[in-house]
Amino acid sequence: MQTDLRGRDLIGDLDFSREEVETVLEVAFDLKRKRALGETHAYLRDKVLAMLFFFSSTRTRGSFEAGMAQLGGHAAFIESRTTQISHGDTERELGDIFGRYFDGIAIRHVDWGIGNDYLNNVAEASRVPVFNMQCEKYHPFQILADLMTIIEKKGRDLRRKKMVVSWAYAASYQKPISVPQSLILQMPRFGLDLVLAHPPEFSLDPDFMQQAKDLAKKSGTTFEETDNMLDGFKDADIVYAKSWGPLFTTRDQEAGKKIQDKYKNWITDQEKLASAHPDAIYMHPLPADRNIEVTDGVLDGLQSVVFDQAENRLHVQKAVMALTMR
Ligand code: CP
Repeated sequence: MQTDLRGRDLIGDLDFSREEVETVLEVAFDLKRKRALGETHAYLRDKVLAMLFFFSSTRTRGSFEAGMAQLGGHAAFIESRTTQISHGDTERELGDIFGRYFDGIAIRHVDWGIGNDYLNNVAEASRVPVFNMQCEKYHPFQILADLMTIIEKKGRDLRRKKMVVSWAYAASYQKPISVPQSLILQMPRFGLDLVLAHPPEFSLDPDFMQQAKDLAKKSGTTFEETDNMLDGFKDADIVYAKSWGPLFTTRDQEAGKKIQDKYKNWITDQEKLASAHPDAIYMHPLPADRNIEVTDGVLDGLQSVVFDQAENRLHVQKAVMALTMR
């Protein structure tokens, strides 16, 4: 167990070693138990987290804000449009100044080619930890919550368990690519065999793909790709099917929509889920396009663990904050 995480940033999934992630999970399980029993756990009394949002959120905002209050501190919700950022405040100024006011800075910025750099520039100038509440490349807290949920449902020994990370159709908007990218980086380190399923135009970042393949090799797990959703689902123990934009093919919204609309049959329904292992769990980070991306029957069905996933955001975030912001 690595216990000295004080002052550390979490921007990319691999910023924490496997052993450090295990520490986070240990603490998260303990905090979940404490909350269930009503035991106080005010490890961050008088500490304040800045939560800077450049993009909307339901779960991330709610869970960070509630988490800080439960740890005895406070979270300040700041929307970028209500700040002076558009009038000239730079990342460096923000990191330096907020680092003097706050004990941690959490940022959501998913703009293509901008978000991840923004976070890293703030972190460089900040004296306090910087947390990635989702950028265009990574969504590390979502993936920690996903890992916690998988361990709860499938046990700690995940070797030889098959996880399919599949693209799914959506009509609402071209969703960020950060969730599948973070999944393929984190999950091999915990022993899962991965299959990535997507139509040809929905490839992930080639650098992430190479890293994922290297990590799988190092971990003794498998990593395969398919352009057939049903093949991907076959015999899977964990089905994680969500939409993302064809961002490595085009970033033009209209062209992207045309490509996306070719694959309306990439919906997770009971029939496809039936080809997975009978005890398979269905995962989605939410929000989902109901009856477009996934049917109500699957999303609200017995195999769905989406509400546990959403709950575990709270516990893993509290664990990271308690370990880093002390
Ligand atoms: N899963 C997730 O990050 O949800 P929000 O976009 O609502 O925060």
